Amino acid sequence: LDNGLARTPPMGWMSWGYYMCGDKCDDKPEKCLDEQLILSVVDTFYKEGYQEAGFEYIIIDDCWSEKKRDEYGRLVPDKKRFPRGMKFIADYIHARGLKFGMYTNIATTTCMRYPGSRGHFSTDAKTFAEWGVDYLKVDGCFVEEDYLNIAYIKLGQYLNETGKPMVYSCSWPYYIEYIHNKKADYDSVARYCNLWRNYHDVVLSWSAVKAIIDHYEKEYPILEQYHGPGHWNDPDMLIFGTGTLSNSQSRVHLAVYAMWSAPLLLSCDMTKVRPYEKKLLQNMELMAIAKDPLGLMARPYKLANSVTLWVKRHLPMKGDMYHSFSFAFVNVHEESRAVSFTPRRYGLNSTDGYTIMDVFTKDFIRNVTLNDSIDVELPPEAQKFFQGDAPNRQPDVCNQD
Ligand code: GLA
Ligand code: GLA
Repeated sequence: LDNGLARTPPMGWMSWGYYMCGDKCDDKPEKCLDEQLILSVVDTFYKEGYQEAGFEYIIIDDCWSEKKRDEYGRLVPDKKRFPRGMKFIADYIHARGLKFGMYTNIATTTCMRYPGSRGHFSTDAKTFAEWGVDYLKVDGCFVEEDYLNIAYIKLGQYLNETGKPMVYSCSWPYYIEYIHNKKADYDSVARYCNLWRNYHDVVLSWSAVKAIIDHYEKEYPILEQYHGPGHWNDPDMLIFGTGTLSNSQSRVHLAVYAMWSAPLLLSCDMTKVRPYEKKLLQNMELMAIAKDPLGLMARPYKLANSVTLWVKRHLPMKGDMYHSFSFAFVNVHEESRAVSFTPRRYGLNSTDGYTIMDVFTKDFIRNVTLNDSIDVELPPEAQKFFQGDAPNRQPDVCNQD
């Protein structure tokens, strides 16, 4: 969607993955979705370096409202959990230079049976705009296929008419493909939405992450065509901070999402993010690759022994270079694997070769020419993430070989 927003993939925090509905606060206070939780995430982003790393949107997912609209047909935040309302939260967020996201569903109810926006598009668009919402996730449960194809466009028009800039996140292709078993019309989706879900909900397991990686690898030829500034495929939230992944699995998870230029949305109790994970999330080299302005999705190459090599072209990381690539070797298997890598075979073409660094350790690795081969040892469930800069000597000869 060409509305000037989401020129780089949105980054932030969203309640669903870890807190889910979060409306049983008496029984489960540790999973309560309320004002206090949201403000504490804002404070963490603001005070602990996440904002500087690019984490920006704080998004309240399903289950935030009263079960009934007010006498004017407007949505009302749950009075107990959000006693000061949403405008208060938006102001608190904006005062810290961060952005506010909310959720609705395109049907009469939300997926968790709270009031949904069907029949109320105009009113709800105005309500979200008045509250100062900067990002709206619109789910697609419980409706027919034809309606999905019309309603997402319509609601987008109402949002646009409010004049309040809002990133528009659609679950449209997910419901078309997985609920209605049809092919998504990605030309329309990319034209009307800033980002979109197109695969199953992530759950808190390594196998869920692996399934997402596998899916994006298979669907790459389609997905990459629609991926870029203003319009992003959304593989769903990161599961950092939930105690689910080993250190090595965490690196794979984040490396691959960064290589995709995927939206990076945390969903966790921010006080439980381990120092190790925090360091990864605040690795500035990695985040620069993740939000590179070109916004290209890395291309996967299946190497002989089921190691996947993801290759991404991006802007130079240093001013005096003329182009840069990142390469991430990913081994999702339970055994170690060895591969070797010759830059020329994977679309790299600087005749001056590349200076290679390890993105996670920040170590200089070596200089390579196009025909050199680098041997890479991959432990189980691990990645090696390199970034290579080509020097700015003879930019014009690079297409000759
Ligand atoms: C769907 C979405 C999730 C979340 C829930 C809320 O399952 O895919 O991301 O928004 O609905 O009910
Ligand atoms: C060459 C290739 C392009 C691109 C650039 C990168 O020009 O033809 O596709 O890879 O190099 O700088």
